[in-house]
Amino acid sequence: MRDEEISAALLVWYDRHARVLPWRVGPEDRKAGLRPDPYRVWLSEIMLQQTTVAAVRDYFRRFTARWPDVVALAAADDGEVMAEWAGLGYYARARNLLKCARAVVAEHGGRFPESRDELLALPGIGPYTSAAIAAIAFDEPATVVDGNVERVIARLFAVEAALPGAKPDLSALAARLTPRDRPGDHAQAMMDLGATICTPKTPACALCPLRPVCRAHAAGIAANLPRKVPK
Ligand code: ADE
Repeated sequence: MRDEEISAALLVWYDRHARVLPWRVGPEDRKAGLRPDPYRVWLSEIMLQQTTVAAVRDYFRRFTARWPDVVALAAADDGEVMAEWAGLGYYARARNLLKCARAVVAEHGGRFPESRDELLALPGIGPYTSAAIAAIAFDEPATVVDGNVERVIARLFAVEAALPGAKPDLSALAARLTPRDRPGDHAQAMMDLGATICTPKTPACALCPLRPVCRAHAAGIAANLPRKVPK
């Protein structure tokens, strides 16, 4: 299978099995080409740093009910935002959240910029988050690599050397698979595959759309990759 065919197989799977999450648009809207709101994508990505989807769901719902857009959040009282964040941890994220919302209002007229570079210049938005927002909200062909995606890629290409220096390799391999068409859905499909099928301990290879091309599966070593880096 060529790289484009791998991504195509993944998208077919995603169209059937995407997780239903409050920051995503539903399958029908997705088919109609509707993109999710950049504010919701940004907020979810900040909340999901170091925090599980299960823990984030309710916080995300409460936040967006109270502050439905970036202009509302920018005008919020700092103490009230910190109180809503209580329990999520890593409180620097909440402080940067407010800084970022206010910068979007002050510098961009209340609309999130679409390019990775402009996103990267905002408070609290690093390489990962800028790629995620550009891909998911704006369908820019940015490659999104989190821990789940690293595991999927390490297995797909049977990358043995999980040494610190191997990380750029995983990113480069992930970039090869990123399609021009639907890069945002591709990114989320990689995340969902890693979270639901290509799991750390006992991957459900029998259900995986990429099994026919997975080198680790062919070699019988999927569950052993990525190898633990000796500390
Ligand atoms: N983890 C980080 N970002 C995510 C997203 N957009 N969907 C699911 N899991 C995620």
